[in-house]
Amino acid sequence: MMAGRGRLVPCVCLGLFGVLCWVWVSFASFPDDQLPLEALDAVDRGAFHPQSALSEMEFASISSYRGPGNSDRRRNKELPIILWWSGGLFPHFPGDTERIDCATSSCLVTSNRKVQLYKRTSSIIFYGTDFRAYEAPLPRLRHQTWALFHEESPMNNYVLSHAPGIRLFNYTATFRRESDYPLTLQWLPSLDYLLQPVAVPLQEKNRLRREGLAPVLYMQSHCDVPSDRDRYVKELMKYIKVDSYGKCLNNRPLPEHLEDTSTATGEEAGFMNFVARYKFHLALENGLCPDYMTEKLWRPLHQGCVPVYRGSAAVADWMPNDHSAVIIDNFPSPKALADFLKRLDENDDEYAKYLEFKNPSRITNTRLLEALETREWGVNDMTKPNYLNGFECYVCDQENARLAAERAYKKAPKKNQPPQPKMADNSHMGCPLPSPGYGDVQDLSADDGWLQIWPQDYWQSLDQAEGLESLIRHNESDPSLLWKHIQNIAVSRARGKH
Ligand SMILES: *[C@@H]1O[C@H](CO)[C@@H](O)[C@H](O)[C@H]1NC(C)=O
Ligand SMILES: *[C@@H]1O[C@H](CO)[C@@H](O)[C@H](O)[C@H]1NC(C)=O
Repeated sequence: MMAGRGRLVPCVCLGLFGVLCWVWVSFASFPDDQLPLEALDAVDRGAFHPQSALSEMEFASISSYRGPGNSDRRRNKELPIILWWSGGLFPHFPGDTERIDCATSSCLVTSNRKVQLYKRTSSIIFYGTDFRAYEAPLPRLRHQTWALFHEESPMNNYVLSHAPGIRLFNYTATFRRESDYPLTLQWLPSLDYLLQPVAVPLQEKNRLRREGLAPVLYMQSHCDVPSDRDRYVKELMKYIKVDSYGKCLNNRPLPEHLEDTSTATGEEAGFMNFVARYKFHLALENGLCPDYMTEKLWRPLHQGCVPVYRGSAAVADWMPNDHSAVIIDNFPSPKALADFLKRLDENDDEYAKYLEFKNPSRITNTRLLEALETREWGVNDMTKPNYLNGFECYVCDQENARLAAERAYKKAPKKNQPPQPKMADNSHMGCPLPSPGYGDVQDLSADDGWLQIWPQDYWQSLDQAEGLESLIRHNESDPSLLWKHIQNIAVSRARGKH
């Protein structure tokens, strides 16, 4: 088989992406070597439309083909199969099965669930937001690894934030730097994005301030979220003027011509100009987790506004330098934060220091620079693979290496080591129990909306993770037995206490 013979073909890459992308089709492989899955039915493609970076950014998939280290000459029917359990995310022609030729080896990838129990199916890739314990592919086969792709908010699935949940996966691509294939800077397209000149000069911002514009912008329409950000912002508003245009804590109408764009995460020019007039942008993520950072943080930096941020407690690790964002958790109270912002608002020199990173030599954070330079996937970059194709290739190469090690061990157990099991742990996600955005949880009234949702969701997710672990341990093949297993765990726990 000739790896590398093929062509780039444009495809409308699943409604999900809604953009044109490119897929490398190694068509030369097919005529003499029937794809074994072609005859199988079309995939069950559920309605699955996550709101995510994936749907907002243009992805260029110049294919999984990454050439020259790959000397894999096997025919398609000899290759390990990787199954995308979340078919909606399958980064190839819908319904197709394709050969991918990765850095060091090749695989077949498919979204056809009929291969679930095949011996050759060596790995299953899951999309975190979409992963449901009561729909997991069971029985879990000993020879199959599970791979998790989750770049979205922790709030979408707290099952993954518990040790028994994340440990089910052997490979991960998450926003955490500790994951196997980290997507930490997924919302930061490039260094140039940060270096873009300030959109609205300080003199102009001061003029707008004198005309009555608030120093601080808040724009959020998703209000009931685990980070409970509104509770904090509401308190902050007592001490400093905040213009709030979204549905949450709204105190100003959005100009009519912007109504359609306000919820977009994309960067429509009219919207961008509108928000760039503010000195400070409240940038509070919907869920708190180490390394979970979104466009809320990077967009103000791009525009030359100062983000007032809460989300990843380690955000400072990724900032251009040590004074480019105001970090909420560094202040003892909303009032203290307000006092600080007022001082910056009144002192042009102090404010300007926060934008010094627009000068390239002032981006001093080597972790940031190196991460941008060395990541292999691109955002809006036609010369690099997108991270979905990148991750499936990571899994493919890992699996081929594992299979080769297993074969070598079987052949000569005295000479070779068996491959070591590999699985994820809490450092690959591990988001903490949601806590109130302001104040202590004991002080909330019993009918508090946030209190009724998020702490419960978090602990119920732990039950589900433990339930699924139990299903797997008992080699069950019906995932709907989850509830029974959860009950059994609860019962035996209660007994243990007596
Ligand atoms: C994959 O993870 C499972 C569950 O944690 C574990 O039992 C298994 O040994 C791992 N497989 C490999 C090949 O590391
Ligand atoms: C688990 O169940 C499957 C079928 O349901 C069976 O083929 C397999 O042998 C079982 N594995 C173990 C370890 O019992």
